[in-house]
Amino acid sequence: MQLTYYGHSAFLVDTGTHKLLFDPYITENPLAKDIDIEAINPDVILLSHAHNDHVGDTLDIAKRCNALVYGAYEVTGWVEKNGHKRTRPMNPGGFIEADFGKLRCTMAVHSSSFKDGSYGGNPVGFVIESNGWSFYYAGDTALTMDMQLIAKQHKLDFCFLPIGNNFTMGYEDACLAAEFVKCKKVIGMHYDTFGFIEIDHKKATQHFKRKQRELTLMEIGGTLTQKKSRVAAGKNVSRKIGR
Ligand code: NI
Ligand code: MN
Repeated sequence: MQLTYYGHSAFLVDTGTHKLLFDPYITENPLAKDIDIEAINPDVILLSHAHNDHVGDTLDIAKRCNALVYGAYEVTGWVEKNGHKRTRPMNPGGFIEADFGKLRCTMAVHSSSFKDGSYGGNPVGFVIESNGWSFYYAGDTALTMDMQLIAKQHKLDFCFLPIGNNFTMGYEDACLAAEFVKCKKVIGMHYDTFGFIEIDHKKATQHFKRKQRELTLMEIGGTLTQKKSRVAAGKNVSRKIGR
């Protein structure tokens, strides 16, 4: 399983059989100016909510790659209205079979509206089970007690949590969230992109260390290979990518 960071909350997760792109806000992010969106070729795009710092380049990438776009009902409706018809609407509580594995749509406590102010439905997060891996992408959210449910439903290998404070939880609450979902490996997101969410990297990583957890702050454009021994992760690797 390979993770690539494109800044803010944008990640590409390559499961070995499928490329999943999360919240691709890239060309308008000055910190991601070296990222070429033409070189990103996802099979699937997952959108946590309608805010522009998440929807970002979705239409361009989805149309070019004919990617299947997952998101809240109102978000995929907006994508369709804007000319891309390959979508799958969901809402929190949904747990479905997808081409790449299983996909759960989780609750997030935040708001959700498009750039023009139109309604974006409820913000969401996702849990993905794919090729023996399990991970949580929280989206923009506060810390919630509901996160404890995820630990009852999944055995997570790693999770993407917002840590920038102000619009989402900060790193201290994110560390508690990691405890709630029972996952030691956290990849930080939603920090440094604009003034309100700048964080002290050292303080954040040390806080996690003190709590016997691991916070990874990836370099923009950087790739991380997740390894584990307990599952034959390559089991489905030769499976053809379904459209
Ligand atoms: Ni937001
Ligand atoms: Mn945001």
